[in-house]
Amino acid sequence: MADDETFCYRDGELYCEGAAAERIAEQYGTPCYVYSTALLRERFKRIRQAFAQWDTLVCFSVKSCANVSILKLLAQAGSGFDAVSGGELYRALVAGADPEKIVFAGVGKTAGEIEYALQEGILMFNVESRAELEAINEVADRLGVRARVAIRVNPDIDPRTHEKTTTGKGGTKFGIGIDEAEKLAGEAAGWSGVELRGIHIHLGSPIYSTEPYERALAKVVPLIERLRAAGCRIDRLNIGGGFCISYTGEATPPPQEYAAAVESYLEKSACAVIIIEPGRYIAGNAGMLLTRVIYRKETQFGKRFIICDAAMNDLVRPTLYGAFHRLWPARSEEGMPQVVLAEQEGFDGIPTELVDVVGPVCENGDFLARARALPRLEAGDLLAVFDAGAYGFSMSSNYNARPRAAEVLVDGPEHRLIRHRETYGDLVGPERQFM
Ligand code: LLP
Repeated sequence: MADDETFCYRDGELYCEGAAAERIAEQYGTPCYVYSTALLRERFKRIRQAFAQWDTLVCFSVKSCANVSILKLLAQAGSGFDAVSGGELYRALVAGADPEKIVFAGVGKTAGEIEYALQEGILMFNVESRAELEAINEVADRLGVRARVAIRVNPDIDPRTHEKTTTGKGGTKFGIGIDEAEKLAGEAAGWSGVELRGIHIHLGSPIYSTEPYERALAKVVPLIERLRAAGCRIDRLNIGGGFCISYTGEATPPPQEYAAAVESYLEKSACAVIIIEPGRYIAGNAGMLLTRVIYRKETQFGKRFIICDAAMNDLVRPTLYGAFHRLWPARSEEGMPQVVLAEQEGFDGIPTELVDVVGPVCENGDFLARARALPRLEAGDLLAVFDAGAYGFSMSSNYNARPRAAEVLVDGPEHRLIRHRETYGDLVGPERQFM
């Protein structure tokens, strides 16, 4: 199934695979996240194939989309996982992940999390500071095991993405500078609890060109060579995630382009195993958020608002990063235009009006789209927010005491609930006993 056939209009109605959006919304209510099994599988397969010339372990980034049914589906397809907390590790294990395919990154791993990961026998830790490496060494010694680690290098490369999701630049909290990494590797060679096996980078997200990866690897590969010459057994190179997707319908580099760009570096690194950590590429386009219009509101100040039942607590990306998500009514005779741009004011042949699509949360920053050209919407209409599968539900919150949305997984014509809509009872569950 081609990407653009997964979420598409047939006879004026939006479908995810073989399931009509309107039926899903009626059955499970709104707001509701809807994911395509076919597209999740297809994207996993595609990125794995792009890197197939190496022995590549794909570690799906749990933070992008953490529902255990989705992790299970990917684990069954052969995926490993990139976790950044004990909670994410727990989710992956509950989903049936093979611990030998789990890598653990993050700048603040606690001793408890380190112990948990060691007991479960994960593949390796991506270490982000000297203090953390010491902590891992200590915990591993106490447990009588040896922890496999990769040093997460901060190569000081600008990935040219949003400032808040830039991680490979010097001055951010992530990773260890090349010089420090070399020094630390030398010292840690004598520590009994850790075994340095790899180098890790993750530059930022999303990265719309291959060039930052090339520039980073041009620094990292010589480091690997030097470490090896000094006696370290570096046999794993993890190039992180950041592989972009299209949010507008416009073309973006496919995974083969990233693989081709880094090919000579990966060869030169002579690492037996290559690790990649895609999140957005696998889950981003594979999920949409369905929301119903509650009210139209036209003001004397010349503004037109479409107020819907999804809000910033359900999808924070627009307000947090100024992110653009395509948005279109689930019933539309003309279907959705191929490309929808942020600055677009109308579409050929489709009458539109300029609106702000907002939620019920009490903040001016609560919006899903601003100044967006959309066909006229009325109360009760169903609206789809596309490409919300990554960093959508996983970043949602209970702000304004809003129960979090339901999640539904579609497989062909079938669909099933994979997370029930939270209840008011769920909201106070952890507090009630202390009243
Ligand atoms: N590996 C590490 C160590 C990461 O920190 C991340 C994402 C990934 C892999 C996966 O990156 P991806 O392939 O999904 O680009 N909330 C932001 C994105 C934050 C990304 C954080 N790290 C957003 O909504 O755009």
